[in-house]
Amino acid sequence: MTNLNDCKIITLKKIADKTRGNLTVAEQAIDVPFEIKRAYWIYDVPGGESRGGHAHKSLRQLLIPVSGSFKVVLDNGAEKKEVLLNHPWEGLLIVPGIWRTLEDFSSGSVCMCLASDHYDESEYIRDYGEFKAIYGK
Ligand code: TYD
Repeated sequence: MTNLNDCKIITLKKIADKTRGNLTVAEQAIDVPFEIKRAYWIYDVPGGESRGGHAHKSLRQLLIPVSGSFKVVLDNGAEKKEVLLNHPWEGLLIVPGIWRTLEDFSSGSVCMCLASDHYDESEYIRDYGEFKAIYGK
């Protein structure tokens, strides 16, 4: 079973400028504990819809609410934990073996995901029963 505490908030550098606005940066090895091979972002999520609903066998991800907010429900097969992401300078590291659901997107919110590998459907687990059988013990 994967330890839920291995999924943690990573605080990124915030360069504040009262006149011109803020800037946040995520650098491989400095802030992000994996080699970044892919970035994608989720946006225009209609009210009441959720994303995710799967686990990864090997992928590591950092989810960053670059605009707005959303909730992430993390599930290791035995316990669940909810994390609200609502600061663009904070990302949530999600390790392999965690079933995750993204919910409660605020209007206009954008979730950026930095990922440790290229897209590979074969390393997804999309069936909750299969997930429980592999990781829930
Ligand atoms: P999925 O990972 O299931 O999205 P979410 O977890 O946000 O609900 O992906 C949705 C669809 O997009 C699915 O058909 C696979 C495709 N996809 C790609 O082609 N490349 C990618 O990098 C990602 C993340 C998804």
